[in-house]
Amino acid sequence: KRVVLAYSGGLDTSVILKWLQQHYGCEVVTFTADLGQGEELEPARKKAEMAGVKPEHIFIDDLREEFVKDYVFPMMRANALYEGLYLLGTSIARPLIAKRQIEIAKMVNADAVSHGATGKGNDQVRFELGYYALNPDIKVIAPWREWDLTSRTKLIEFAEAHQIPVSKDKRGEAPFSTDANLLHTSSEGKVLEDPWDEVPDYVYSRTVNPEDAPDVPETITIDFERGDGVALNGEACSPATLLTKLNELGRKHGIGRLDLVENRFVGMKSRGMYETPGGTIYALAHRGIEQITLDRGAAHLKDELAPRYAELVYNGFWFSPEREMLQAAVNYSQEKVTGTVRLKLYKGQAIVTGRKSPYSLYSEKVVTFEDDQGAYDQRDAAGFIKLNALRLRLLGRRDQI
Ligand code: ARG
Ligand code: SIN
Repeated sequence: KRVVLAYSGGLDTSVILKWLQQHYGCEVVTFTADLGQGEELEPARKKAEMAGVKPEHIFIDDLREEFVKDYVFPMMRANALYEGLYLLGTSIARPLIAKRQIEIAKMVNADAVSHGATGKGNDQVRFELGYYALNPDIKVIAPWREWDLTSRTKLIEFAEAHQIPVSKDKRGEAPFSTDANLLHTSSEGKVLEDPWDEVPDYVYSRTVNPEDAPDVPETITIDFERGDGVALNGEACSPATLLTKLNELGRKHGIGRLDLVENRFVGMKSRGMYETPGGTIYALAHRGIEQITLDRGAAHLKDELAPRYAELVYNGFWFSPEREMLQAAVNYSQEKVTGTVRLKLYKGQAIVTGRKSPYSLYSEKVVTFEDDQGAYDQRDAAGFIKLNALRLRLLGRRDQI
């Protein structure tokens, strides 16, 4: 029996590793993904080795480019926002981790996979829907739903009894739970649990306080091709490089902080804090280029589909026919979403200050308040309004009596 564990190298998944070996008596294969969380990953290899995992069973993969190119960018094309505000930074990473875990399971001939998400959250659903979609016969082990380590204290006792290093700050209760990748850092739990209490400063890790951001605005440009960002300030860069650079800019100017109470798929409300510096700038820029390149009908249909798309990603249905159908429609809409957006970054805000495109539908000639030399006949508007008013007048006449 062999199980592939999504292993961060942190305390919780280190305890899970040991617990799987003991409780299930199975051989554990670890998989650690570099999604741009900004942590050293070699310590995870050492810890796995110390726990007795065979060197050939320790997988550490840099998935940053795949993450941005095949998950973040397609989602950004859809302008997906969960409950109007959340850019889905954790949600969008889970299907990629699940996919890679299933691939590794096949390579090493494992019959099970395991993860460190709790039984209360969204992540368990996202991981497991991904697993089952990609391997209908896979066995799933979710230790948080099974074991009797029901408190932090018990978890730490277990760790100490098994020579798992526990850092000093973990010995007291961890102040909050975080998840990080190239798109965002999310924090939940403990000091954030009362939705009336303001998020303390020390919870923020990748943006400066907008109040302390530079007093001088910074202007940047992003080039788009078919709905995807391809260059920053005229310099071509890969998807992951673009997002990394936007993250640096967002950090400096305090952009992309969000304090949110959201509805989890399992039914409860939870309060979290998100920092999505580069993603916030990118999403706004994408809207900016769509403003001139998308027809109104296409744009408004996209706006109707976006919340549906976001809900599918949030609920873990990335590998579903309905998400793929929406993606096909979204991708089709992006054929001519090509051009350049200029933005100003200033004290917690990104503001679009210009956009241009060889495919622009914007006609200065038609819209101008000056002499349009016959481009638009204002007399046409009278009939347009009269017919649109017809039913309102019939209603008015009836209801006046
Ligand atoms: N609530 C967010 C989501 O469902 C983040 C969940 C993971 N975050 C964490 N701090 N453990 O996408
Ligand atoms: C967890 O429960 O493991 C994190 C929170 C979530 O998945 O919503």
